[in-house]
Amino acid sequence: MIERLTTGIPEIDRMLRGGIPKGFTIAVVGEPGTGKTIFSLHFIAAGIRNGEKGIYVTTEESRESVIRQAEMFGFRFRDAVRRGDLIIIDALMGEHGDPWSLRELTVEELISKIMDAKRTLGYGHARLVIDSMSAFWLDKPAMARKYSYVIKRRLTKWDLTMVLTSQYAVTTSLGFGFGIEHVADGIIRFRKKIMRGYLRRFLIIEKMRQTDHDKRVYEIDIVDGKGIVVKGPYNATREDIMLPASVIKKIIEAQLKKDQELSMETVDLDENV
Ligand SMILES: Nc1ncnc2c1ncn2[C@@H]1O[C@H](COP(=O)(O)OP(=O)(O)O)[C@@H](O)[C@H]1O
Ligand SMILES: [Mg+2]
Repeated sequence: MIERLTTGIPEIDRMLRGGIPKGFTIAVVGEPGTGKTIFSLHFIAAGIRNGEKGIYVTTEESRESVIRQAEMFGFRFRDAVRRGDLIIIDALMGEHGDPWSLRELTVEELISKIMDAKRTLGYGHARLVIDSMSAFWLDKPAMARKYSYVIKRRLTKWDLTMVLTSQYAVTTSLGFGFGIEHVADGIIRFRKKIMRGYLRRFLIIEKMRQTDHDKRVYEIDIVDGKGIVVKGPYNATREDIMLPASVIKKIIEAQLKKDQELSMETVDLDENV
């Protein structure tokens, strides 16, 4: 029997046949505003509720903003930090003298800070969120896949179950975010779509190793005081929920270009990060 961790959202646990297998690395991907951060907050909050420890790396919002967003859904992050059950690593503000700030957005600094945090939290399993990974390769998207591999390999030894988010904007940054999907044990994709003048959100489990899972698209909502609420399976065609064919073609072209760049990269990251 694989041990599984609740995501904090009962319907998503059911879609996963009981939750996220312990020790897995999950890629949570999607455009901005689709619910990735809020899903990550649920995941950490569910752990804390069960007496598990958590590490939350935030690159796009400050620690204060993460705590405030969590409190909106009833997750008592400030108390958890105070008790020493949760460490929020702030990679945005980089405040001087704050032991849990990243001074630079490098993979090396990230891994070493997470290891510090894990040591501080003490023995045993912990949940880790990195929100988002895209921030670490903003200026070198070609490295996304290699960095993702290094991060997964280095952190897997530390008794962590990881949720790594990454985002792409369909119109602009085709280069971002396609790294972690290659190394992840599971992929949960969030989507949004304006239909009849109304913003609607969806999710689908695209991959989960070693387990059966629900393969339907589900419509979700984000509700004040609650967080993600699953409304039910959505009877959509694949085209409704996937990127348009023209965009996919561009992504594939960008990927090929990146792979070429990558094969020319000489930096050896495997052991020295
Ligand atoms: N307190 C709230 N009540 C209702 N909806 C909220 C609340 N806070 C955030 N949201 C919704 O969640 C969205 C942001 O979701 P988020 O998980 O941060 O997206 P991302 O995928 O970019 O991480 C907002 O655009 C808003 O629609
Ligand atoms: Mg976010």
